[in-house]
Amino acid sequence: MNVGIIGSGTMGSGIAQVASTSGCKVKLYDTNQNALEKSKGALEKVLARLVVKGRIENAEKLRIQSNILYVDSLKDLGDSNLTIEAIVEQIDIKKKVFSELESYVSSDCIIASNTSSLSIASIASSLHKPERCIGIHFFNPAPLMKLVEVIPAIQTKKEILDKTVRIISDWKKVVAVAKDTPGFIVNRVARPFYGESLRIYEEGIADFATIDWSLKTLGGFRMGPFELMDFIGNDVNYTVTETVFAAFYFDPRYKPAFTQKRFSEAGYLGRKTGKGYYDYSEGAIKPEPKLDKAIAQIIYDRVLVMLINEAADALFLKIASAHDIDNSMTKGVNYPKGLLAWANEKGIDWCVQKMDELYNEYHEDRYRCSPLLRKMNKLGERFFN
Ligand code: NAI
Repeated sequence: MNVGIIGSGTMGSGIAQVASTSGCKVKLYDTNQNALEKSKGALEKVLARLVVKGRIENAEKLRIQSNILYVDSLKDLGDSNLTIEAIVEQIDIKKKVFSELESYVSSDCIIASNTSSLSIASIASSLHKPERCIGIHFFNPAPLMKLVEVIPAIQTKKEILDKTVRIISDWKKVVAVAKDTPGFIVNRVARPFYGESLRIYEEGIADFATIDWSLKTLGGFRMGPFELMDFIGNDVNYTVTETVFAAFYFDPRYKPAFTQKRFSEAGYLGRKTGKGYYDYSEGAIKPEPKLDKAIAQIIYDRVLVMLINEAADALFLKIASAHDIDNSMTKGVNYPKGLLAWANEKGIDWCVQKMDELYNEYHEDRYRCSPLLRKMNKLGERFFN
């Protein structure tokens, strides 16, 4: 199969590696010659490391490399069966590239975007045949992250969706099919992990280290929310939150936090700038959490129930199946458990009670309980039954 990839930055390069490893012939295109060279160099490094570690043979390294052709003309992608675009996140530029691309490829070529935040319907509208357009959303780093969200637009034909799911599964990825709505699954359902933790900090309930410790110890999360925001970059994470908030017509559930905005404005972006919620400079001492079990339990219960509520609401609004929602969080962001399975474990009655306690305390719409949880509680139902 011939795969054309547009944009040889972080994501395009990773996707090219995934496709070529699975035996596809890949053409990787970028307008910037430097980006192409950088991508080629980065792949050499990554594969050489895998050879040294004994994960792949040298012959396999050469095979993966020879499957990728670096091209500087969009026309070269003309013989693709599938194209995946991973250029700058700007709708007008994407639309322009899509409409030019359509004039080069055959009429049955699938034209996909790796966008994180733009509507697939809007991107598809730039094509003469919008029914062949689809979202294929990889996570960073693409070769390592198991999950890929596949997002049909309202224009997308069922056979294009089925074909895409087959291809991405053949690439040994776990596919979750998501509705074309802001944040798809992961970037929507994960919002409270950051947002509620920031709110808990802003209310003065605990400091960063204590919140991180509580969620790691009681919840089994690999990284605490502040460690994770520092890892992702406060600028990137803030922008996702702001975009999702605006795209949901300012639903208070997704409201960004001033703390993160200020950290971002100050240039305290996290690991990449040496300072974020924590200090990463040499010799810096990590602050100790306050080991108060009662506070830890309050923090854990509050963040977890907000995450469960978000996952339940995504199911209620048919964003994805229960199975795909849970798989997305364990395979896309390494949560220790699926949130709906977690809800079963805690009890649906517990979830409703905790949400109602928060709502009664704050009287903010942010804390409204998902109608699905409420209904299930009344009927004594559980997820996955
Ligand atoms: P990047 O900035 O690393 O790479 C973008 C590349 O596109 C650059 O090499 C640039 O030269 C090239 N480019 C820009 N305009 C072009 C054009 N008109 N034609 C051809 N090439 C062009 O960006 P990154 O992070 O790889 O993101 C790409 C896309 O993937 C965006 O839509 C982003 O939202 C999405 N995404 C990013 C993730 C991440 O964690 N970085 C995760 C999932 C999706």
